[in-house]
Amino acid sequence: MSAGVTVRLVAPGDVAPLTALLVANRDHLAPWDPVRAPEYWTEQGQRVNTDRLLDLYELGGVLPGVVLLDGEVVGQVTVNNVVRGAFRSGDLGYWVSHHVTGRGVATAAVAATARWAFGDAGLHRLQAGTLLHNAASQTVLRRNGFTPIGVAPGYLCIAGRWQDHLLFQLLDGPGMR
Ligand SMILES: CC(C)(COP(=O)(O)OP(=O)(O)OC[C@H]1O[C@@H](n2cnc3c(N)ncnc32)[C@H](O)[C@@H]1OP(=O)(O)O)[C@@H](O)C(=O)NCCC(=O)NCCS
Repeated sequence: MSAGVTVRLVAPGDVAPLTALLVANRDHLAPWDPVRAPEYWTEQGQRVNTDRLLDLYELGGVLPGVVLLDGEVVGQVTVNNVVRGAFRSGDLGYWVSHHVTGRGVATAAVAATARWAFGDAGLHRLQAGTLLHNAASQTVLRRNGFTPIGVAPGYLCIAGRWQDHLLFQLLDGPGMR
């Protein structure tokens, strides 16, 4: 089902296909995302965003990935807010295009990202927060071994409203890499 799904570091060459994909998925993403500035939906805005992510990646602050299905960009996965020291934790976020949902793409992409985070990137913990009614995303996390750790009230401003989130975590351990 999830054969053909890979995750790799975003590259400048992804900007054009990513922008087209984001524009095509604007309605699909709207209920689950922050309200975006108008530039977000342009190649110029995505170029600035990608450059910023790659700079931050070099500093060890983020793992910015693209999700590929049979070599074609179909989504994004990002580990934000990477903190080292005694925490070695990061915040996981992801989306996949509406035209490939429901066939295990996000589940496989999150698995690949966990291998990246706990392997090469040396993290110990991933956290992910979902809206309380984002059942599909919760399924993706549970299938990857994420454990719910509680509800954070008013945690993120999504679709223009500070909304409660169910937080999950996954710890590094045997079989994770
Ligand atoms: C959430 C999202 C990443 C899931 O991607 P996906 O590739 O469809 O996920 P998967 O196919 O790996 O798994 C999703 C599972 O949830 C199930 N599901 C989908 N919608 C559901 C719903 N409304 N209620 C319950 N389960 C649902 C799917 O059927 C699938 O399970 P199955 O394989 O047993 O049928 C994708 O829909 C998306 O990008 N949504 C918009 C952005 C978003 O919500 N990002 C996550 C923010 S926390």
